[in-house]
Amino acid sequence: MKNYSQKYAASIRDPEKFWAAAAEGIDWDTRWNRVLDDSDRPFYRWFAGGRLNTCYNALDRHADGGRGEQLAIIHDSPLTDSQRSITYSALRDEVALFAGALACHGVGKGDRVIVYMPMIPEAIVAVLACARLGAVHSVVFGGFAANELATRIDDASPAIIVSASCGIEPARLVEYKPLLDQAIELANHKPRHCIVLQRPQVQANLVPGRDIDWNDAIASATSHDCVIVDATDPLYLLYTSGTTGQPKGIVRDNGGHAVALHWSMQNIYNVEPGEVYWAASDIGWVVGHSYIIYGPLLHGNTTVLFEGKPVGTPDAGAFWRVAAEHQVACMFTAPTAFRAIRQQDPDGELISHYDLSGLRSLFLAGERCDPDTLHWAEQKLGIPVIDHWWQTETGWAIASNCLGIEALPVKAGSVGPAAPGWDVRALDNNGNDVRAGDVGAIACRLPLPPGSLTGLWQAEDRFRRSYLDTFSGYYETGDAGYIDEDGYIYVMSRTDDVINVAGHRLSTGAIEEVLAAHGDVAECAVIGAADALKGQLPLGFLVLKAGVERDSDEIAAETVRMVRERIGPVAVFKTAVVVARLPKTRSGKILRSTMRQIADSEKHRIPATIEDPAVLDEIKIVLKSIGYAG
Ligand code: COA
Ligand code: AMP
Repeated sequence: MKNYSQKYAASIRDPEKFWAAAAEGIDWDTRWNRVLDDSDRPFYRWFAGGRLNTCYNALDRHADGGRGEQLAIIHDSPLTDSQRSITYSALRDEVALFAGALACHGVGKGDRVIVYMPMIPEAIVAVLACARLGAVHSVVFGGFAANELATRIDDASPAIIVSASCGIEPARLVEYKPLLDQAIELANHKPRHCIVLQRPQVQANLVPGRDIDWNDAIASATSHDCVIVDATDPLYLLYTSGTTGQPKGIVRDNGGHAVALHWSMQNIYNVEPGEVYWAASDIGWVVGHSYIIYGPLLHGNTTVLFEGKPVGTPDAGAFWRVAAEHQVACMFTAPTAFRAIRQQDPDGELISHYDLSGLRSLFLAGERCDPDTLHWAEQKLGIPVIDHWWQTETGWAIASNCLGIEALPVKAGSVGPAAPGWDVRALDNNGNDVRAGDVGAIACRLPLPPGSLTGLWQAEDRFRRSYLDTFSGYYETGDAGYIDEDGYIYVMSRTDDVINVAGHRLSTGAIEEVLAAHGDVAECAVIGAADALKGQLPLGFLVLKAGVERDSDEIAAETVRMVRERIGPVAVFKTAVVVARLPKTRSGKILRSTMRQIADSEKHRIPATIEDPAVLDEIKIVLKSIGYAG
């Protein structure tokens, strides 16, 4: 553990020296005055005074520096039965032209641009074009409903929205344009224009005067050069679930982000520039931002953009086909994808159909990885399988076995030791470190390393309340777990109302807001119950208003439809049940975590403050009737 220990200790002892060295991996227009500006604690700024352009670092310096003919992107799309490869030179040219198109329509430094697109190269082009102009992109995942998009439009107030006519799911086409039109209708803020890429599968109707066909936009544009911005200027906003229906707009800067992601490619993932790296995620999530787009491109790797699923496109061998065909050196996905593959190919028979000799490591994140899934992947692939832990907020791994520094022993169930830069603690309610092995709230001592969030978009108070107020001098992760004697971290659960469904982060509070809007519902509760495939699934409990005599199954089915319409299919909200009462404390707090423990057949203590313990028995009977609670 010597290399790791030394590097880690150096990063904590003298973060400025550590990250100044890492910053040499980035091309700067102007070097920084201070590596870490701590003049406004608890807000910290990395590389203050430094100036750069992130798109220049991701594309131009490679295109002009000997990697022009190397592939930047391989788009592999079993859903359209097509592939497209783009070199660094060609990608730079496409991005410069699209940046010109955005500029033509008035987008400049600091303006927000929402990107609502499926997994196609043009989505990356749009994102990097924003970075080129110093505009702030905000990508919205395609599985969200119009209402969620509208909330983000109102919060980010974009000048322009870039979209496509459709996304493609195995069983259906997802027409983006009607969702986009509905979202703009719902939102108070109206974008000046929408630039829409027409995919061959669906022709979208364009609104005259507002909507512009992607091809027309670039036909009349000229290439735009990189606009130099401050290291501390925002690069992007990415919305993630909090405890309410109002998502949090995570703000990422330019300088710290470029430094941290570039550093992580070698030190965490152990890949060399020129190698092929594949994050099988979606550009709508932070993993997609960091490791489909920015990390690999900043580091001169080839990135794979996969428009398909781990199973069903066409079979459970899809990942192995892609890894073999494109000579992927390092791969990253969510445990749920492996559980899906294993369910369909329990012996991993399809793995043997492909030459995976080039694949050196597999990284997993996004949700807790059960040891069983980890062992299965290790045995079937015969390579290191690394569970690592991070959040939309942190932008890169808080904890990981850093293969580029030193391959440490893997402990199943653990996300590895803290990554350099992260001073991770398990704390009790008073903010004191708990003993090794005891569960506490996981928090990170400030300052956080470069690349982590600099704030919430126009919500400084919420930023403080959500992350900084509970433990003075720490960032509260919202995760609970323990740290063992060797410093390995075990992330066990959330301390808030966030649940994780198929590696997607969702707010039970947001689902409850939708259920509560049903005219017959008096009160409700949503919990995340364990699911063998997706990790967790949301379950809704409804108490009806007095006097409602309609069929309860019908009401439950209506709420299921409402969640799909208002949050989106990605919530996978399929089960709601009507109950007579909800279990509460005497002060009226709903006992969601006790309900979850009952659903998952876990041991639970009946809280001393419970209003009426008999309600828990009623809930248990209902849970049993739908296949939970043992
Ligand atoms: N656009 C529109 N709809 C989408 C979508 C998108 N980008 N992604 C998912 N959906 C839809 C699905 O079609 C499905 O709709 P349905 O109810 O009509 O069937 C619904 O949202 C639920 O999707 P999901 O939970 O992903 O289930 P699935 O059955 O389609 O796929 C897995 C299951 C395990 C294969 C898939 O969840 C997966 O690959 N997960 C990995 C997640 C990941 O990469 N997370 C990022 C962190 S690394
Ligand atoms: P997101 O912001 O969508 O990336 O979700 C972050 C949350 O997912 C974390 O706060 C954890 O609750 C969970 N998570 C991510 N990676 C892991 C992991 N490797 N092990 C356990 N939980 C994880």
